[in-house]
Amino acid sequence: MNILIVTGSISQQSNNKKIARWFDKNYGDKVTLTHLPLADVPMYNMDIENDPPQAITEMRRYFNEADGVVMITPEYNYSIPGVLKDLLDWTSRVELVLKGKPVFMLGGSTGRFATIRAQIILKQVLESAGVMARVFDRSIQIDTVHQKFNDEGDCLDEQTEKYLKRGMDEFIASLS
Ligand SMILES: Cc1cc2nc3c(=O)[nH]c(=O)nc-3n(C[C@H](O)[C@H](O)[C@H](O)COP(=O)(O)O)c2cc1C
Repeated sequence: MNILIVTGSISQQSNNKKIARWFDKNYGDKVTLTHLPLADVPMYNMDIENDPPQAITEMRRYFNEADGVVMITPEYNYSIPGVLKDLLDWTSRVELVLKGKPVFMLGGSTGRFATIRAQIILKQVLESAGVMARVFDRSIQIDTVHQKFNDEGDCLDEQTEKYLKRGMDEFIASLS
């Protein structure tokens, strides 16, 4: 089973990338995990959508080959990061590579609202008439994320790890 991990932060020090590493450590031997190189995706531009840069052709291939998508987003100013919105805009044009694709949403913020505002917006975009993804029922919001993961992707909080495992196990089961 192929799972594509999309992390909505391109920062090297990203806390959400630490969550992505947790998936590598805990599910890398159970499913095939691939990470979308979001930093390569240019800003969306209608002028080039029919003859796009190679990064867009590759991005479409990543989605086409995935049975499901784990989308891990930070919250930036009560919304999803612009880089993630650009990606979703690309997926909504020419070739609808997220149409009907199951997406498991999660994310971590350093604050107490735990990306809930970003995920409300993410769900709305994913279910839009252009993107038409299938959002998985369970989503996970992680507060004070900087205290809950180390750089290697170990989860330091038992309850959070329990939620992550339950969510991912249920997501994988829903794909088979
Ligand atoms: C531009 C910017 C905007 C932010 N806005 C929010 C916000 O609206 N809500 C929130 O909980 N945290 C916010 N934060 C703090 C983030 O939760 C924190 O920086 C987190 O580590 C970002 O995820 P990342 O490290 O994966 O990029 C913001 C951070 C940045 C850099």
